[in-house]
Amino acid sequence: MTTDSQIKVCRVSDIPANEMRCVSLADRNVLVANTAEGVFVADEMCTHEDARLCDGNLAGTKVKCPLHGSRFELTTGKVLDDPASVDLQTYPVTISAGDVYITLD
Ligand code: FES
Repeated sequence: MTTDSQIKVCRVSDIPANEMRCVSLADRNVLVANTAEGVFVADEMCTHEDARLCDGNLAGTKVKCPLHGSRFELTTGKVLDDPASVDLQTYPVTISAGDVYITLD
C-alpha cells in the first residue's frame, strides 16, 4: 500500500542487481541502487562538489564518488571518507508490486 507522501521512482526491474541508476523525479534527482541488501534511494549529487554519484562505483551498499572518491553508506547516508564531510540525503523505500517508492517528509 502507498500513501500520498510516497512517490514512485522506477520499477525494481529497471535497475540490474548490484547496479545503480540516476532517476529524475518532478522535484529532485535521485540515485537508486539495487543491492543484495535491498533497494536504496538517495540524492544523486555528491555532498562535496558537483558529481553525480551514479557515475561512481557501487560496492555492496557503499557508493563511491567518481570525482574525489568519498564513499557514502547508502543504508544510512553517512559519509565514510574525506573530502566530503556532509552526509547524503537518503529516503525511506517501499516496494509495492515491483515498483520502488520513496517517502518524502
Ligand atoms: S565531488 Fe564527490 S568527493 Fe568531491
